[in-house]
Amino acid sequence: MSKTFASITGVHGYVPDYVLTNEELEKMVDTSDEWITSRTGIKERRLLKGVEKGTSVLGIEAVKGLLEKTGTNPEDIELLICATVTADMHFPDTANLIAAATGLTRAYTFDLSAACSGFLFALTTASQFIAAGTHKKVIVVGADKMSAIVDYTDRSTCILFGDGAGAVLLEPSTEYGVMDQQLHSDGQGQHYLYMKGGGSFHPPSTETIANKEHFIVQDGKPVFKAAVSGMSDVVSKVMARNGLTNDSVAWLVPHQANKRIIQTVASMADFPLEKVMVNIEKYGNTTAATLPLCLFDWEKRLHKGDNLILTAFGGGFTWGALYLKWAYDTPA
Ligand code: ACO
Repeated sequence: MSKTFASITGVHGYVPDYVLTNEELEKMVDTSDEWITSRTGIKERRLLKGVEKGTSVLGIEAVKGLLEKTGTNPEDIELLICATVTADMHFPDTANLIAAATGLTRAYTFDLSAACSGFLFALTTASQFIAAGTHKKVIVVGADKMSAIVDYTDRSTCILFGDGAGAVLLEPSTEYGVMDQQLHSDGQGQHYLYMKGGGSFHPPSTETIANKEHFIVQDGKPVFKAAVSGMSDVVSKVMARNGLTNDSVAWLVPHQANKRIIQTVASMADFPLEKVMVNIEKYGNTTAATLPLCLFDWEKRLHKGDNLILTAFGGGFTWGALYLKWAYDTPA
């Protein structure tokens, strides 16, 4: 019997309208367009403005667009997984809110948290349900409203992040889809990238607010180093065991945290930059949304049968790489 793979049969992305430029950040903190561009490659990022607008707003737009463009009946979706670190609330899960607003009446839903590797972890998880033959239509959405947990007085983090969402539809195929993956976690990473307050460890209080514990804290240099070595290692392992070379891989699809990280990972794997998806200049780091937003931006340039290597690194630490065989040509 032939093997069943989870193939991506549609992708849609959404970013909010408000554009936060480097020039605007220059007025908010002691920084410069030159510093941000040379250290990170970021020129602007999108922010979701307005009262009572959480991550679900982003996810809903991505899923709505995906259902429309693939002509999918919402009632045919059996499972929706939302990767996020900025859920609307502790519970119910943001996946539930997205499903309710998009008419996924038959789907069961849950959130998955793996920081910037969230989409990769969620795609891997979802693909198992398809490969097992128990599910025929599954949606994975990566969505984060990072502006909700960014301290806009901290120049070392506020320049990095943006808001956005991307969603993919997974269906069974005997030829295309998720062929292989390797994921990792290392709890030692907790010391370098975290948000301390708001959970059961430090529940919200006047003290946690005064101590700014509801914002991201990052020690950039160790994260940078771990990101480069973690992604390079796992990309080479996944490529080697699938007999892939940089000639047979059409695109490297890396998490968008820092252009210098992307360039280093690409050069260590001998990938020419023309074959590396980079859109960090427009969106910054949208955490769980970076990979599907790349696939969405590049969708028209992807061809049936293209070999793609997706890779990500994030808080936890969490990281991994995934080998995907693209399933369709986009009609002109
Ligand atoms: N503007 C101007 N100067 C700045 C800024 C800024 N926005 N931010 C920091 N600086 C200063 C620092 O204060 C420091 O000054 P000092 O030398 O006087 O102390 C100097 O610039 C150098 O700071 P570094 O932190 O050493 O700068 P670095 O070159 O490491 O770049 C950065 C910082 C961009 C954060 C980088 O370390 C990085 O990209 N790290 C990894 C990010 C990442 O991959 N995150 C994982 C995913 S995120 C997630 O999972 C949620």
